Amino acid sequence: MTTSLPGVAVRASARTVPPVPPVPAVPPVPAKSSAALSVWPASARLVSHGDVAVGGVSLVEAAERFGTPVYLLDEDEVRERCRTYVRAFPDTEVVYAAKAFLCRALLHWVQEEGLGLDVCSAGELELAVTTGFPPERIVFHGNAKSPDDLSAALRLGAGRIVIDSAWEIARLAALIPPGARQRVLVRVVPGVSAGSHAAIRTGTDDQKFGLSITDGSAQHAVARILEQPRLELAGLHCHIGSQITTVKPYLTALRRVVGLLAQIRQQHGIVLPELDLGGGHAVAYRPGETALDIPSLGARIRRELATSCAAADLPVPRLTVEPGRALVGPAGVALYRVLAVKRTGDRVFVAVDGGMSDNPRPALYGVRYAPRLIGRRSTAAPVTATVVGRHCEAGDVLAADVAMPGDVRPGDLVAVPVAGAYHLSMASSYNAVGRPPVVAVHDGGARLLVRRESLADINSRDVGL
Ligand code: LLP
Repeated sequence: MTTSLPGVAVRASARTVPPVPPVPAVPPVPAKSSAALSVWPASARLVSHGDVAVGGVSLVEAAERFGTPVYLLDEDEVRERCRTYVRAFPDTEVVYAAKAFLCRALLHWVQEEGLGLDVCSAGELELAVTTGFPPERIVFHGNAKSPDDLSAALRLGAGRIVIDSAWEIARLAALIPPGARQRVLVRVVPGVSAGSHAAIRTGTDDQKFGLSITDGSAQHAVARILEQPRLELAGLHCHIGSQITTVKPYLTALRRVVGLLAQIRQQHGIVLPELDLGGGHAVAYRPGETALDIPSLGARIRRELATSCAAADLPVPRLTVEPGRALVGPAGVALYRVLAVKRTGDRVFVAVDGGMSDNPRPALYGVRYAPRLIGRRSTAAPVTATVVGRHCEAGDVLAADVAMPGDVRPGDLVAVPVAGAYHLSMASSYNAVGRPPVVAVHDGGARLLVRRESLADINSRDVGL
């Protein structure tokens, strides 16, 4: 499948991409040369003159070839993370949550690694199906699915649609042609609080997702679905939140959902065959932070499932998990060019050529990153600096209070690791700054996956007078 050009690996399927000059491969170094690279992709290596190579590709050369800002995605890191899940969760469907980041190449990688897909809009679904992703392995989500979403899910054959509100039940059933049936899951809220920020906690009744077990909405929705001959209730779903660092909340949620499975058998005499426990597994954004340990998560969830089901005298349902961030987050590196350095009072601001338009996460959730100067060795004493973007508001901060060499200056490169999830999928064209390109790195080769958004792209939408 892979052909080699001088220093560049190009997939046969990518030959339509316009030719770009090759990035010379960096000779491999046996082991990671610095603990400071602990949150970077496993392939990251310190190379000469303060450069770092990822997937064997020098960041300095990638910046020259593709321009900045640019996002690099380490294909091997994504694939290895998929494999970790498949090993940790045998007899389980591992489904990639596409909202973390989606593009055609990534769809191929996760499909080749045997994963399914979680989508939450007609747009994500169309991209997946037109890329050849098997629709029966797709789970369709959304708390407010539009008529277009529902009809796309039916037309394109999404394997399961997750019911998130009572309204959706009759609406969906009415769109299904006579003689056909659609498999559905019910998203339930188990009453478990977990997740790093209020905006991404979804296990309790005070937020918009799912149907409460506590107030009986989940039980009511189950009864209504069972009255619809065109809907086939395959099981229950629950996603309690995101960036969760411990296993315990998953076990609590699991016990409550198994309790509901038992209640459903008692009330309706049916045993539901599937249980989807969502995603939310934390990654470390900075050295020293806690990532959820996936092998331990897999073992403990499967053990708890077996125990709870045995106690309720239920057969063990088929398990699904839906990781997003943990598959792609640590595989991504954002690379920026410094445009200005400003010293105000005792603050140092390092302003780069991207910002909240490609990474709104610090502004939204107060997330902290560990940026690194790339491309030269500095002997200057470190200063505490705030890396900011180029956008027109003071909240446009990429990394507050981080150590930078005291001589940091315009023209320098700054890389931000753990940039693969919820950056570009939440990116905007704020201030008419185009969104950055995405480049896959693998085995010393770099390949453009998503091109930079041009001014022409942005302006072409403006069709009024
Ligand atoms: N399943 C469902 C139903 C979800 O809503 C989500 C994420 C996932 C799976 C995957 O969660 P993950 O494994 O990626 O944590 N923009 C926020 C994260 C929002 C998560 C939304 N739902 C952030 O940047 O942290």
